[in-house]
Amino acid sequence: MEDRIVTAHLMMEDQTVEYSLRPRYLAEYIGQTQVKENLKIYIEAAKLRREPLDHVLLYGPPGLGKTTLSNIIANELGVNIRTTSGPAIERPGDLAAILTNLQENDVLFIDEIHRLHRTVEEVLYPAMEDFALDFIIGKGPSARSVRLDLPKFTLIGATTRAGLLSAPLRDRFGVVSRLEFYTEDELAYIVSRNAELFGVGVVGEASREIARRSRGTPRIANRLLKRVRDHAQVNGDGIITDDIAHGALERIQVDPMGLDSVDHKMLRSMIQNYRGGPVGLDTIAASIGEESQTIEDVYEPYLMQIGFLQRTPRGRVVTPSAYRHLGLPVPEYNG
Ligand SMILES: Nc1ncnc2c1ncn2[C@@H]1O[C@H](COP(=O)(O)OP(=O)(O)OP(=O)(O)O)[C@@H](O)[C@H]1O
Ligand SMILES: [Mg+2]
Repeated sequence: MEDRIVTAHLMMEDQTVEYSLRPRYLAEYIGQTQVKENLKIYIEAAKLRREPLDHVLLYGPPGLGKTTLSNIIANELGVNIRTTSGPAIERPGDLAAILTNLQENDVLFIDEIHRLHRTVEEVLYPAMEDFALDFIIGKGPSARSVRLDLPKFTLIGATTRAGLLSAPLRDRFGVVSRLEFYTEDELAYIVSRNAELFGVGVVGEASREIARRSRGTPRIANRLLKRVRDHAQVNGDGIITDDIAHGALERIQVDPMGLDSVDHKMLRSMIQNYRGGPVGLDTIAASIGEESQTIEDVYEPYLMQIGFLQRTPRGRVVTPSAYRHLGLPVPEYNG
């Protein structure tokens, strides 16, 4: 399952590609219009006031551009970005060391911020609110609290699971932005632009064909583009035509809606074993040998977005459009 071509998770093979294709400025960052327009104003204002930008929380499914946007924000602000992740900060002292080493107005990017240790999180509260660290010196009745001032900074937190953030942490972000799945038009644009960066021609409807199968996710679009390019170079004359794109995508086994064999397996299992639901997440997970969390974070959001799956209080339900997509008769009863 690790090798799923349409997994939104970062894979080894993506890393070099992602680095070279990563937009550097807001103007190159396609889509997410609302989020982008708000940020543009806040960034301008912060620069005018020569103050740090408010703390920003970015959340949404993997591969939609949270890390990319964080780097763009620092770039547009003209400040340094220090990147770390929730699980990487093991002790409060580690965070204190990072914070004291920041320069005025820098960005501290904490990926997977929902996985911060509780004790580390507590250090973050006064740091975010007052740009200060609180220490307790001494023991017993003579113990006293000492406050150390920090450089002013902007914290950017990224998470696929905003629901797991504690309320006190969440409340300390001035800007909370949810990234959305991209439209076919936006992805087609990203594909054309990146084909150009790869130095490979893409003609006709080929970029649209790739976009359609990318699950609303730029990371997947880039990955499919790379595979299709390989096919174009080996089986064609290096130009991605409709035929080349179509043939390559069929061989990769991503269907026209971007679903792969695992999505098919999951939907079919729900239909065959549980009459299309409602069925609990854990049951689905067990029946296809996946982890519940992976299904919930990565696979299910897209199936819900395209209206193939619904979440009800009693469990997940397969919708009539999913039956039709799979070429199965839609049952008469409902739920
Ligand atoms: N708005 C965009 N315009 C163009 N390309 C984009 C955009 N957003 C993301 N990408 C491309 O998609 C790739 C993946 O994005 P990124 O790594 O920022 O996702 P992420 O949300 O941080 O994922 P994860 O949750 O796995 O950390 C980037 O390297 C970039 O090439
Ligand atoms: Mg990321």
